[in-house]
Amino acid sequence: MMNVLVTGGAGFIGSHTCVELLECGYQIVVMDNFVNSTAAAVDAIKKITGKEFPFYECDMLDLENFEKIFQENKIDAVIHFAGLKAVGESVTKPWLYYHNNLVSTLNLIALMEKYGVKKLIFSSSATVYGAKNPIPYREDMETGGTTNPYGSTKFMIEQILKDECVPHPDWSVILLRYFNPIGAHPSGLIGEDPNGIPNNLMPYITRVAAGKLPCLSVYGDDYPTHDGTGVRDYIHVCDLASGHVKALEKTETMQGADVYNLGTGCGSSVLDVVHAFEEASGVKVTYKIAPRRAGDLAEYYADATKAKKELGWEAKYNLLDMCRDSWNFTKKRMEQEAAGK
Ligand code: NAD
Ligand code: UD1
Repeated sequence: MMNVLVTGGAGFIGSHTCVELLECGYQIVVMDNFVNSTAAAVDAIKKITGKEFPFYECDMLDLENFEKIFQENKIDAVIHFAGLKAVGESVTKPWLYYHNNLVSTLNLIALMEKYGVKKLIFSSSATVYGAKNPIPYREDMETGGTTNPYGSTKFMIEQILKDECVPHPDWSVILLRYFNPIGAHPSGLIGEDPNGIPNNLMPYITRVAAGKLPCLSVYGDDYPTHDGTGVRDYIHVCDLASGHVKALEKTETMQGADVYNLGTGCGSSVLDVVHAFEEASGVKVTYKIAPRRAGDLAEYYADATKAKKELGWEAKYNLLDMCRDSWNFTKKRMEQEAAGK
């Protein structure tokens, strides 16, 4: 079985993917600099799976330290999650985003080349489709026209990785374009708990439901959608995790770079999510209609057929499952806080 290096493995999607990899029998080596996560996630992965693995607290920008991982472990494939991801912050700190996301990836490519690692899976985003494509988004549509530095790093890294496959024809690189990941592991031991006031919808809803924020602002109810609020393709983070394992299997039989959407193919509006959350949790979510948020699109969701056909993967959790697991994780967190942990 392959030994897989997981960069950013203590983060939201990385930690769920580590669990899935271990449960599928892969060996893993995990690294993270904890800029947006903590060691508790690493312990939780071990607790959920009952398995051990090497963990390195390491910054990918620190090439010398990063190289130690390759010196001390025989790596067969890399899943590269590490990166900064706050869209708003990327607008105020573009250098930080370009430097962190691009240099970390360039360092990784240099080490893969030096140590003969030929398989890579990269976390891209539906944001690379820009604003002008018709929905649903299909992998062969034109990308670019990103509207913030975060999105531009994803677009640029996709191009860099495709270019690297030209002089390295025996490399297998899969770019996964995630839609909107929410939910949490059913154990409630790992999930998403951003610092400060959340920007994204589900963490905001759970804070309101937990009584930590008074009211959700619904950004616009005059979009041309079924109820006027913005529509997205929400996907359970555990489905996303299993998509990575399927992509890893695919790297065994393909060469060059290929792209897959990881989405459900279904669009849900902000109010659909609020109502599903209320149904799944039994808790009322206070909300008010607010002005549109700059940069938001009315509606987008994935065409999920390519991943189904070529990876044999499709999402199996629905919106109620996602809401139930997000709430379960939040409740567990609150219990821990109350217990002073
Ligand atoms: P996350 O912030 O929870 O995880 C990213 C991890 O990378 C964090 O643990 C962070 O500490 C680590 N990291 C950042 N820079 C690093 C560096 N220089 N060296 C080592 N570790 C570093 O984010 P996530 O939601 O799990 O996202 C994972 C990946 O998926 C990111 O690349 C993100 O851009 C991408 N993505 C996320 C979403 C989403 O909505 N969550 C959507 C599309 C794409
Ligand atoms: C955003 C990013 C995307 C990134 C993703 C996950 C933009 C344009 N896109 O997607 O690149 O990959 O986050 O990090 O920023 N909403 C509210 N009230 C809130 C929060 C959100 O009504 O308090 C609405 C939004 O207007 C949107 C939907 O909920 O219609 C989802 O928003 P969000 O969770 O922030 O994700 P995206 O904007 O789709």
